[in-house]
Order: sequence, then C-alpha cells, then structure tokens
Amino acid sequence: MLKTEDNELLTRVGPGTPMGDMLRQYWVPAIRSSALEAGGAPVRVRLFAQDFVAFRSPGGEVGFTLEACPHRGVSLALARNESFGLQCIFHGWKLNRNGRVIDAPNEPAKHRAKFVESLRYAPCHAREAGGVLWVYVGKGDPPPFPDWEFNNLPPERVLMRRGVVHYNWLQAVEAHLDSSHVAFLHAGPVQSGGPVMPRIERAELAKYAPQGVAPTFELEETEYGLQESALRAVGDDRIYARVREIVLPFYIFIPGVPNAHCDARISVPIDDYTTAEWYIVYDPAKPLDPDAARARFLNTSDDPDDFAANLGNRENNWHQDRAAMKTGYWSGIVRNLSFEDFVVQASMGSMADRSNEQLGTADMIVVTARRMLLNAVRNFKERNEVPWNSARIDYREIRAQSFVYTQHSDDWRRYLDHVQDNSQRFGSPSTQPREEV
Ligand code: FES
Ligand SMILES: [Fe+2]
Repeated sequence: MLKTEDNELLTRVGPGTPMGDMLRQYWVPAIRSSALEAGGAPVRVRLFAQDFVAFRSPGGEVGFTLEACPHRGVSLALARNESFGLQCIFHGWKLNRNGRVIDAPNEPAKHRAKFVESLRYAPCHAREAGGVLWVYVGKGDPPPFPDWEFNNLPPERVLMRRGVVHYNWLQAVEAHLDSSHVAFLHAGPVQSGGPVMPRIERAELAKYAPQGVAPTFELEETEYGLQESALRAVGDDRIYARVREIVLPFYIFIPGVPNAHCDARISVPIDDYTTAEWYIVYDPAKPLDPDAARARFLNTSDDPDDFAANLGNRENNWHQDRAAMKTGYWSGIVRNLSFEDFVVQASMGSMADRSNEQLGTADMIVVTARRMLLNAVRNFKERNEVPWNSARIDYREIRAQSFVYTQHSDDWRRYLDHVQDNSQRFGSPSTQPREEV
C-alpha cells in the first residue's frame, strides 16, 4: 500500500508536477509516422496533460510543438504548414520545427528581430524511427535517442499499434510489471482454445506455464531499471525462465514463449487519467508470422491510433461474457488477451487508490518498482537528478527472453543471450548449455 501523498507524487503528470517533469526527460512515441502528411494539416497530440501538434513539412521533415501559438494562443492545428515550420493564421507568426518563433511579421520592422529574440521558448524535439514519431518535450537538450532493437528492423518485422486506455499511466505500467496474474487472468486465452493466441504459442505456454504452478521470481536491479526472472521447474531438473526487462520509467519488454516473437510496451501518459499504450510486436530475425501478429490484435478496434476503442466501459462491464465463463473461459474477456489487462486496470478506476491495498510476496515486483520510482521522483524533485541515465544504457541490447535450461547450481543470468551478438533469435552462439526449444 502507498500513502495517499506518495500515490499523488507517483501518478500526477501535468506541467510542473515532479513526476510529470521527470517523465518528460525521456523520448516517447507520439504518433504514427504515416498519420503525418507532407505539407498537410498539423495533427493534435496530447501528452503529459499538454496539447501539442505534430506535422510534416512540405519537404518531408517532421516537427512538434505546443498547440497554442506563443503569441496569443490560437491553435496551431489551424496553422499554415510551410517549409520553415508553421505559420499561425491569426497574425502570421512563424515557428520553426521545434516550436521556436523565428519571425513576428505583424511587429514593426525596426525592433522585430530583437523582439523575436526575447520571446520565451520551450523547444520540442522530434524524430522518426520504426514508423513512429518520437518526441522529447523535457527541459534542456534531449538525452541520447533510445535506439531500441525494434527501431532498426525492416518494416515487415515490426508491428506497432497504439491503444488509448482511460486510466493513469502507473496502472498501465503496473499491469505490465505484474507477472503473477498471467496464470489466472490470461488462463482463458492460454487454455480454452480461444482465437486470441496462435496455436503454437498457446501450446507452448500451456506446456511451460501450466496454471497453478506459481513461479519463483528473482529480481535484479540494473542500470536501466529491473530485470525479473520468473522461474518454473518443468521436470527433469529443467527450469523454464521468462526474463522480463523493465526499463524505467515506462518501457517494458515482455517475454513470449520460446521461439515466438518479441513484445515491448510503452505506457505514455496522455494526462492524469488517460494513457497511450504502445504495443510493439517484432521479430529481430525474420518477417513476422502474419498469424501471430494478427492474433495479437484480433477483435480489437481497426482504428490504428486506438486499438482499444472497442474495449467497452463500466456500464457494460467491458463486454464480459458470463456464458463463456461458464464454459471454461476464466475472465470472460474473450476478445483479446491485451483487453484482459486493460479491463482489470480500468475497473480500478481512472486513478487507482493504492492506500487500501494489501500486498503479498507475489507483488514484489510492483512494490520494488514503486519504491524505485518514488526514490527517483524525490531525487529529481530535490536535486534535479534524472534517473536511469540514458547516456550509459545500451538500449539496443535490451530484449525480453525465455528459455529452458538444466539446473545444476546455475543461475538464469548465465543463459541470457547478448542481443547484438546473435544474428538469430534464441539461436545461441553462446557456450552456455542452454536448450533450444
Ligand atoms: S495568435 Fe498566433 S500569431 Fe497571433
Ligand atoms: Fe497481462
């Protein structure tokens, strides 16, 4: 459980809040690249309880700035999209692609340059990678760009979708952190043969993670956050390890079953009560299996910017299907496995009250991550220290992994592959006696 004031400190993300200012120190996905037409209308994007516009100049360069014109606040979604950036339709002020005013043509020529020079400026930074516009809207120069593995793959190996959920960002992150729910909440897709999980994946998961087998969790604090291994004995002295990578504050890599594709999730605050859930499915070594990729988003909304648009709401109990529960589907949230995660979080309300929780040892990862986030935000507030320093992290190396190994006196850490050393996923050139499964 958390004290109410700590819950507030962790969850509030508006301008001027400690957590909001801290989260702004990271690059985040803002909008799909293909939503930006060269020379087209700027597109509104809300992030960290602030309104921005994203745009692509007639020459193809991307830009990102606050939506309100720095002169008198007219929406720049209405602005002219020019080669230099945007030009406000009200008095013609010109902004470059970072949102800096470069001219105020309604001012008298004799002092115009000086006036423009004196204007306040909150720069935004934008760049494209992996089919997405990434932005940095924090103070100062942006940190090194997180060069995730999926940002460097050809398009046929990556599928990226955004879903909008109506709850606070920390609930979104905690849903991805919490691994002790998998055998329960997701028992339906795993066991009942529903359409939402590809056959191979379902069979593998049932084999290695049978319901009722509580894994042992081991946690390792890393430079970037946490590494969590869920270890299950699967007979013959063999251990099935699922290693989750938690890159704080909000990037999470979740292992699939061995030899399936990779999954990453990024939970970006839209405001205190709304979160953009970016789901990234990718295969580093080969084109994505279309069935596996489709299954991830089966029965979700077709809206490419909100695959959760048809999630439902409290009034209709998020379309929970009681008949399906009677015939063996655990949660009754039959549409999609990801929706099971979304529904339980949405059911807690748009801002979960953590002051009444009663946590056990199975909640260790949630408790640890909250402690790390609390320490981080306090240090940031008091000393302006930015946690999980991007300059020291090799983002390309981060990938969730799952594998089986034979237990001697060994440690799962010895079996982790080095991502960049391998040309094949899970095809281990390492000398460790890790099994191929
Ligand atoms: S409000 Fe934009 S130029 Fe005046
Ligand atoms: Fe889940």
